[in-house]
Amino acid sequence: MFLDLEHLTMRFGGVVAVNDVTLSIGRGEIHGLIGPNGSGKTTIFNVVSGYYKPTSGKISFEGAQISGLPAHQITGRGFARTFQNLRLFKSMTVLDNVLVGMERHTKTSLWRAMLDPVATQREDKLLTEKAMSLLNLFGIAEFAHARATSLPYGNQRRVEMARALATDPKIVLLDEPASGLNETETDALRETLLKIRDSGVTIFIVEHDMKLVKSVCDSITVLDYGKKIAEGCYADVSRDQVVIEAYLGKEEDL
Ligand SMILES: Nc1ncnc2c1ncn2[C@@H]1O[C@H](COP(=O)(O)OP(=O)(O)O)[C@@H](O)[C@H]1O
Ligand SMILES: [Mg+2]
Repeated sequence: MFLDLEHLTMRFGGVVAVNDVTLSIGRGEIHGLIGPNGSGKTTIFNVVSGYYKPTSGKISFEGAQISGLPAHQITGRGFARTFQNLRLFKSMTVLDNVLVGMERHTKTSLWRAMLDPVATQREDKLLTEKAMSLLNLFGIAEFAHARATSLPYGNQRRVEMARALATDPKIVLLDEPASGLNETETDALRETLLKIRDSGVTIFIVEHDMKLVKSVCDSITVLDYGKKIAEGCYADVSRDQVVIEAYLGKEEDL
């Protein structure tokens, strides 16, 4: 498939954070990763994006093995992510936070700027236009020149997502994007996720908001204590007795 995790295991000393997890994500789908706190969701993201080298198991992307590659090489293959806790550049504007996500296509940009200022300016203009169109997608273009951390929390999360998408990723890993959002903001997030998916970007999402998971995810993997306990579409996993006992519990009515 597009992204395949095979028998992935990640140990930290005596803790087995991810235990023999196998899952596949198809190109262009929204795949949900759900489970109780501490079940290994963020660790899977950290391993997939190259922050940790897996203890064992294999990760392949577009048919090539990527497990063990350093994070920047995995990014280079088309991965982007957001974090469970916001990581914005505090002193930068919203626009600059998105622009730092974009790589210049020229390797020697300083030399190029001196030798060919016109081309450099043209390139800067294109990057800015692209960043602005991402801010538009998230409905925050009007705050482009505000300091990122002066925005309310929900908008800061949008900036972070815009920055992730600025790298033109093939797949984006979103760690609890709805956490801290109110219902209106979550509704807007839902629309945006669908737009991102429709633009051809595959989405791998960790999320506790089951209403959101239900309405956007094409397929879902459920973890408990680092192990995969179920997989399938929402209707299947939400009816699974093991999942209800481990995670959904009283939320059965969702
Ligand atoms: N760097 C680390 N060092 C030691 N233990 C870790 C590390 N990262 C995660 N863990 C442990 O792995 C388990 C899974 O954590 P995590 O992946 O953050 O869960 P989730 O995102 O599902 O809440 C937890 O027991 C956590 O304490
Ligand atoms: Mg987590």
